[in-house]
Parts: sequence; structure tokens; C-alpha cells
Amino acid sequence: MNKPYLLAPSLLSADFSALGDAVAHIAENGGDWIHVDVMDGHFVPNLTLGAPVVSALRPLTTLPLDVHLMVDNPQDHIEPFRAAGADWLTFHVEAVVHAHRLIGAIRDAGMRPGISLVPSTPVSLLSELLPLVDQVLVMSVNPGFGGQSMIYSCLDKIRLLKKIKQESGFSYIVSVDGGVNAETLPDVVASGADVVVSGSAFFSGTLFGGSGKKHC
Ligand code: DX5
Ligand code: ZN
Repeated sequence: MNKPYLLAPSLLSADFSALGDAVAHIAENGGDWIHVDVMDGHFVPNLTLGAPVVSALRPLTTLPLDVHLMVDNPQDHIEPFRAAGADWLTFHVEAVVHAHRLIGAIRDAGMRPGISLVPSTPVSLLSELLPLVDQVLVMSVNPGFGGQSMIYSCLDKIRLLKKIKQESGFSYIVSVDGGVNAETLPDVVASGADVVVSGSAFFSGTLFGGSGKKHC
């Protein structure tokens, strides 16, 4: 299926008792990356999975593993996720003071660094970091749970980030995460997002419309 973006299905909405099957399902249904939502019960009010699970899934796929850290103290997780085989490691700007140092540490570990921002954080807070990162992950829901409604104003951040990129020559890609479904996808695509994360809509088979019985 030709699409002007990369699709990154989120394991958060998969059957946690069969994550290996979920990885195969993603590969067979148009997924380009595998998005792994890591939550610590502190930065967000939910707990999910960590580096041992990524390590277990790594041999099952050649798709990039896109790890989204929604945790306090993300610096403590660089080495475990490097060892587990993560390709991308994205942390939240709201969770750290020394973001510059952390981006360098992720790159030095051989992973591609990303920065994310919650809906209430403006793009301007990232101005010193945009030259340094490979991905900006725009949260379009308040992080912590799948299946929430998109906060539409967040799409303006994607347009702004693409404009800054074009004017500056920076090389980051822009991802969007939260509330993407068949109804919101056209506006997400129109905003220019390079990577589209989808959890509940992808795993219910409704991301591209239809009854939920088909995927793509
Ligand atoms: C939310 C996570 C998202 C989530 C998206 O905190 O970061 O990746 O899985 O789920 P949907 O697509 O259901 O909004
Ligand atoms: Zn995510």
C-alpha cells in the first residue's frame, strides 16, 4: 500500500499475551516500524513494558523498534534499551533537565535520538534541541493510555515543525502519536507527518476504515 508516511503501530494495543504474534501482524499489515510505549507509573499514570520485552521481540523482526519512553529519569534506560536492540529512543522533554546531554548519550550508544512533547508543551521549548535530534514525536493525546480522542490543535505543531525544518535544513522527522483513526488520518496526513503511530485503530483493523475485520 503506497502511503506518504511511515506507519508505526503501537504494541500498547496488542494482546500482551501474544506479543510475538503482534509483531508478525504488524509486518503483515502495512507496519513500517514497531512503536513500543514504555510507561513507568510516574511520568504517566500507567505501567507497561520495558527493555526485557524489547529484547525478546528483537529476534522476531527486522522492522525498526521505535521506543517511546514515557518515564522519569530516561537516562537510566539508555543502556538497557541499547542492549535490547532498540533502533530509536525517544524521551520527553518534560522529563529531563539535561536534554542536550541525553541526546548525545543516545546517539553515542548507537541509537537514533528522538524528543517528544505532551499537548501542553509548545514547540518553542525544543528550539535548542531541534538541530540535534533525528525525530520529534508530537503527542496528540495526553500520554498514558491508548484509545483517546485526538487533540486536534496538536496538528498545528506538526505543520510548524515541518516549516522550521524546511527553513533551517534540520534533518529530524516528525511523528504523531495519539488518537489516529480512520476519521483523523486524512488530517494527520495533510499536516505532513512523516511517521504515524496508531494503537487502537490499527489493532482493531479500522485505521483505514471498514468493519474491523480487515487490515489495510
Ligand atoms: C499513548 C501512547 C500511544 C498510544 C496510541 O500514551 O504513547 O503510542 O499507544 O494509541 P492510540 O492510537 O489508541 O491513541
Ligand atoms: Zn507512543
